Amino acid sequence: MNKERREFIKNSCTLCAGVLGLSALLPSLQSCVSIHTLALEPVNNSFHVPTNSFIENSNVVIINNKTLAYPIAVVKSTSTYRAFELKCTHQDNGLGVSNTGFFCNMHGSNYDLHGKVLTPPASRNLKEFKTNILSEQIVVYIS
Ligand code: FES
Repeated sequence: MNKERREFIKNSCTLCAGVLGLSALLPSLQSCVSIHTLALEPVNNSFHVPTNSFIENSNVVIINNKTLAYPIAVVKSTSTYRAFELKCTHQDNGLGVSNTGFFCNMHGSNYDLHGKVLTPPASRNLKEFKTNILSEQIVVYIS
């Protein structure tokens, strides 16, 4: 094989690998948006999340507090808000969060942003907390 032909094959394969690698990465990049985590104190068994807490292109805000066994995800859907405990319903493991859903690294369960199980072994949907809107605040009732 002559030198030019070897260079052509080497460059073509490098380009293909780059394109294939990038295309494989694109779906994960689309959900790779920052998610705001708020350290809040409870007020009368509820958390108050300002409605402007959501980072641009993100529809999830996380509430964290030392009194919580697991953080809470507040999910924005148009003008409604829902809140879910970030605890896997399979064996009580903490969940990871993206802007497309929740996932458990222990055995691979996945949930959508409505807390619904998409992938077993979990069989129950996520625990949901009641929410209400009061004066530009999303109130999440924890009891
Ligand atoms: S603990 Fe989450 S899938 Fe098993």
